[in-house]
Amino acid sequence: MLDVVVLAAGKGTRMKSSLPKVLHPIGGKPMLGHVLDAARQLNAEQLNVVIGHGSQSVVDQFVEDDISFCYQLEQLGTGHAVQQVIPKLRPNAVTLILYGDVPLIQVETLKKLIGAVDETSIGLLTVNLDNPKGYGRIVRDNNGDVRSIVEEKDASIEQRLITEGNTGVMALLGKQLLEWLPKLNNENVQKEYYLTDLIEIAQANSIKIKTQTATTEEEVLGVNNRQQQAQLERHYQQSRAEQIMIAGATLLDPKRFDCRGNLTVGNDVIIDINCVFEGNVLLGDGVKIEANCVIKNTTIGSGSVLKANTLCEDAVIGNDCDLGPFARVRPGTVMANNTKLGNFVETKNVFIGEGSKVNHLTYIGDAKIGTSVNIGAGTITCNYDGVNKHKTEIHDDAFIGSNSSLVAPIVIGKGATVGAGSTITSNVPDANLSVTRAKQRNLSDWKRPEKK
Ligand code: UD1
Ligand code: CA
Repeated sequence: MLDVVVLAAGKGTRMKSSLPKVLHPIGGKPMLGHVLDAARQLNAEQLNVVIGHGSQSVVDQFVEDDISFCYQLEQLGTGHAVQQVIPKLRPNAVTLILYGDVPLIQVETLKKLIGAVDETSIGLLTVNLDNPKGYGRIVRDNNGDVRSIVEEKDASIEQRLITEGNTGVMALLGKQLLEWLPKLNNENVQKEYYLTDLIEIAQANSIKIKTQTATTEEEVLGVNNRQQQAQLERHYQQSRAEQIMIAGATLLDPKRFDCRGNLTVGNDVIIDINCVFEGNVLLGDGVKIEANCVIKNTTIGSGSVLKANTLCEDAVIGNDCDLGPFARVRPGTVMANNTKLGNFVETKNVFIGEGSKVNHLTYIGDAKIGTSVNIGAGTITCNYDGVNKHKTEIHDDAFIGSNSSLVAPIVIGKGATVGAGSTITSNVPDANLSVTRAKQRNLSDWKRPEKK
């Protein structure tokens, strides 16, 4: 049985932000979301989140019904924060205390910490630091047993030399918290109720403190300002890049790779620099992504190539497709196999049939395009009349000449041809040629004006 308590009531003054600190993202996800996901992977039965500053926006953002919010109206210290959860605590469950601003905590570390808890011992997560400044220090006796945690502000000069820091993360039985939390006092420099004082109370009750050491400093780093946020973002992205390489993709520079969601890759995927992946992205075998692409909630079939500076959102791209450079693939775009969208082509809510090509400088919206269609440069589907959107259908083997405007609703028949520069306002039957431009006149006796 596991109950989790996440402390998230602090103001986060140093973020200098109107957004509560725990809503600031790492890898595109609010920090609190990372912590809750870790807790869920531990199969916690209760997710209690202590909130205070900016509580309404936190509640609005986290609507999942496995979360239970507790309010700490005044921030009187970490011990006081946990006291707010007393009515929820189950005596025989292990209670794990986490922090909404410590987003990269690892599930494996927490499993070990929880494993240390029983009737006679509690688990405490510590971290070895080159520079322990700002951390509570772990004070051990000659046997190496933990005696207490002293906050930096309360520490003596010798104690400040200790490089083992308190992460704040601990695990203990609910009944221990229920018994000990009311005993905390605020007789310290900061006049706060310190959660860390539980360690001395545990000692007094002959309960052993079993420590677990964090694997990296970043795992337990709390974000107080935007520099620390950036440091954790890089750490997070580095580990995402490593996962993707292990999964079989080549990253031309793992340091210039950003994943803000779930990226799944096949074998032999190549990703050039400065690409951003958001939401759920799936890249099939042999997909090649050139530099500066931004891809959000999109599936790309095997063998397809995204040339540099292509943007895709909520799209499905088949196998062996060719996009960009500078293509903008907007939501609802579905490309069958072997299709092409060239430079400065924008699509939205479009199906493009197998073998069809839209090579340059074109807008196609609310359209269904058949197979082997060729759409010339500068073609526009005029899908919006200022009030409603209308559909364009272009049937198989049609050829749309350059610089044509197709005023929807409209159907271009199978094998039909639209002459370049036409504005097409009514349907074109199969196999017809449709031209609407004015007839060309060549005036042989015309003279250029001369300067007076
Ligand atoms: C705390 C620990 C310190 C540890 C450090 C690690 C205590 C007394 N000290 O110190 O030993 O090394 O974390 O970063 O526990 N919070 C609330 N309500 C409050 C106070 C804090 O919800 O009344 C939350 C904050 O939002 C934050 C976390 O608890 O997420 C830590 O609070 P903070 O004030 O930053 O504690 P530190 O002084 O850093
Ligand atoms: Ca802190």
